[in-house]
Amino acid sequence: MTRSCKTIVLLPGDGIGPEVTSAAVAVLSDCAAEFGHCWDFVELPFGGIAIDRCGSPLPAETLAACQSADAILLGAVGGPRWDSLPLDRRPEAGLLAIRRELGLWANLRPVVLRKPLRDVSPLRPDRAPRIDFEIVRELAGGIYFGEHALERTNGFEVARDVESYSTPEIERIARFAFDRAARRSGRLVSVDKANILASSSLWRQTVSRLASDYSGVSLSHLYVDNAAMQLILDPSQFDVLLTSNLFGDILSDEAAALVGSIGLMPSMSCGEGAPLFEPIHGSAPSLAGRDLANPIGAILGASLLLREAFSLPEEAAWIEAALDAVLDAGYRTPDLAGTASSIGDASFVDTASSVGATFSDGRGTSRGGAFRVGNAFTVGCSGFVAQLRTRLREPLPQLERYGWGV
Ligand code: IPM
Ligand code: MG
Repeated sequence: MTRSCKTIVLLPGDGIGPEVTSAAVAVLSDCAAEFGHCWDFVELPFGGIAIDRCGSPLPAETLAACQSADAILLGAVGGPRWDSLPLDRRPEAGLLAIRRELGLWANLRPVVLRKPLRDVSPLRPDRAPRIDFEIVRELAGGIYFGEHALERTNGFEVARDVESYSTPEIERIARFAFDRAARRSGRLVSVDKANILASSSLWRQTVSRLASDYSGVSLSHLYVDNAAMQLILDPSQFDVLLTSNLFGDILSDEAAALVGSIGLMPSMSCGEGAPLFEPIHGSAPSLAGRDLANPIGAILGASLLLREAFSLPEEAAWIEAALDAVLDAGYRTPDLAGTASSIGDASFVDTASSVGATFSDGRGTSRGGAFRVGNAFTVGCSGFVAQLRTRLREPLPQLERYGWGV
């Protein structure tokens, strides 16, 4: 077998970005060792740290490396340190720049309520029997890339942000979404505000016109306000949701809440250049450096990378099965641990004591650095990754019985 090495550019970024990115790298390295793959990791500054070091959130060297990569893994960017900069020089501007420069016009956000996390969803189990859908978000147009202006008129300030979509921009993202739906259960819902906005009206007409090319897909339309409500009322009705840039940004955070935590959701941005994978959460400065971050969004970003960029579905499934096994065993980062949400703080210790746990140091029991509350073990980012890597080293039942690729 020829081993061709794939180049994966790492952009850990700011806040918890480096912690969760190293979790994803650890899992990808285990995957390479287990399956005989070869990844070349190249780490470069991006976001706030790149502003500090190089004066720009997307330095030329970082962009050049991304342009010749096979895939990109991004952590998160931003933080209070850079909040006073003008909008076009902030870490977030680096994100828009990389999307623009690499022509990443499609963004895929899988929304899955994992079985062991059913009790973590804020919805009652009968309201969320099954949550498994994808948000396809247009990523290179709309209000994010329209004119942004601030003017002084008649003695006061007026700000303007322009939402604009052309037919080709709508067509390419709609075709992407139709294709995704065709590979799933064939239900596509397009989201717009066509009762008010001209750009949405063109969006609806264009998406509707394409429907005849996809006989296996049933298309329906929802106004964005109704879509926001339906996501809460009955998320299991959705399979693929197609949205503009802004609507997708908003609805994907709502969807993340449905599956338990924004820390759980990965995303893929793709189009012309190398595809970029990242958790959808932000840099969470208050958690940074405290080993409290949830690495699952980044780890699922790594499995999405294997499946979508490298066409390695077995490897992706291997990671996801181990992840579910760790969750099944009760390991939870603080954001998933309910009442134990402030591990590391006195309040966590109080919570643990109040449910009768006994810590070995006099405060309760601990297992491998994990604190036990009821049947759950609250672990930090590194503790969770250690559990996962232990699972990855164990032969999984299906591996023993059938072997891979059979
Ligand atoms: C996201 C983020 C970004 C966006 C921000 C940080 C620019 O919220 O990827 O969802 O709005 O696209
Ligand atoms: Mg967002």
